[in-house]
Amino acid sequence: MQPNMPLSDLLEAVRKNAALPEDQSEATPPQVYTSQEFLELERTRIFNHEWICVGRSDEFQNPGDYRVTTISSDDVVVLRDHDGELRAMSNICRHRMMSLLEGEGTLRGKITCPYHAWTYNLDGQLIGAVHMRDNFDKSTCRLPQFAVEEWLGWVYVNLDPDAEPLAPRLAPLAKLLANYNVASYRTLFRVDEVWDTNWKILFQNFMEPYHLFAVHKDTVEKVLPTQHAHVITGGPGYCLYTQGRNPGVAFEYSEAMSNPNPDLSEDEVNCVPLFGAFPAQMASVSAERTFWMSLMPIETNKVRVFWGVDVHPDAMPDGSEFDARVAELKASFHAINGEDKPVTAAIARNAAALSAQPGRLSPKEQTIWEFQRYLARLLTTGSEAKTFVRKV
Ligand code: FES
Ligand SMILES: [Fe+2]
Repeated sequence: MQPNMPLSDLLEAVRKNAALPEDQSEATPPQVYTSQEFLELERTRIFNHEWICVGRSDEFQNPGDYRVTTISSDDVVVLRDHDGELRAMSNICRHRMMSLLEGEGTLRGKITCPYHAWTYNLDGQLIGAVHMRDNFDKSTCRLPQFAVEEWLGWVYVNLDPDAEPLAPRLAPLAKLLANYNVASYRTLFRVDEVWDTNWKILFQNFMEPYHLFAVHKDTVEKVLPTQHAHVITGGPGYCLYTQGRNPGVAFEYSEAMSNPNPDLSEDEVNCVPLFGAFPAQMASVSAERTFWMSLMPIETNKVRVFWGVDVHPDAMPDGSEFDARVAELKASFHAINGEDKPVTAAIARNAAALSAQPGRLSPKEQTIWEFQRYLARLLTTGSEAKTFVRKV
């Protein structure tokens, strides 16, 4: 394949790749990772219309709690308003498009634009604008609102006001995870990073257990070995594998924790489901904790990685041991990510090479085949991109 193939040829390659039967499946054509036009199409077709994970519900527990994030090309503020409703809306001022809020925190009262001090209620309604003419009616001016949904304690935002709800397409996952009570897990820590790779390379890396025995041989593999990983066929909105755990050991802590969750069967205690909620959230769920990432492409070879760990409410020790355990968990997951970063960066570099060619996939990579079929469905079907309609 030539490095700068026209988009139409690339989409044909994507279609053919997705049409391969699972037992003859192949890795992703490399230009899918390097083409600027392909990234633009992903923004238009995928990130403007799909559900993006922005955090956990307990991070927006109190009225005024907010976080600014970027979805596709839009800066979005997620907040809990004074009526207790969780909202997502544009972070762009309706006057001359200044950014309203930054980072995260808790708002005491209104949202005030730092440029000319237009002020908004937490439902996005403009309520203050000084030095304006009498013929300006503030009541007609509101920050565009986006769809928000909570699922198992995660918060998702969709820029598309006509989006189908998320929960039905993840229903089989919710059933599989029911006994873990993931909605009760509490946020332990969050990290916001930029990795030097394509977002899809990282999604595929997280979602295949084939590399554990090689890349993570001294860490994850000792507890969750590749040979005990089994892909379970997913659905239109997700892919999934279950990872058998060697009893009595952990890679996250210096000593194995006792199971804090009485609802889990013995099999479930020794099983770690890992799911990818399309397009860009990946999560590993155990009896004690979750470890998850939400991705947003910045460039073809740069991705924002918002990741963190949440814990079962009874999983952590009290008092002075708490901080030590948090530090231990942080160090473990940074170390594992440190093993994945050079791999995912190398693949992103090599995808631009003349000699880069996709090879055959292992059965342990069925999740990659399913993800490729999802991408093909969204990117190669229909002749026109859905238009974006703002709801104000
Ligand atoms: S841009 Fe916000 S008040 Fe002017
Ligand atoms: Fe990995």
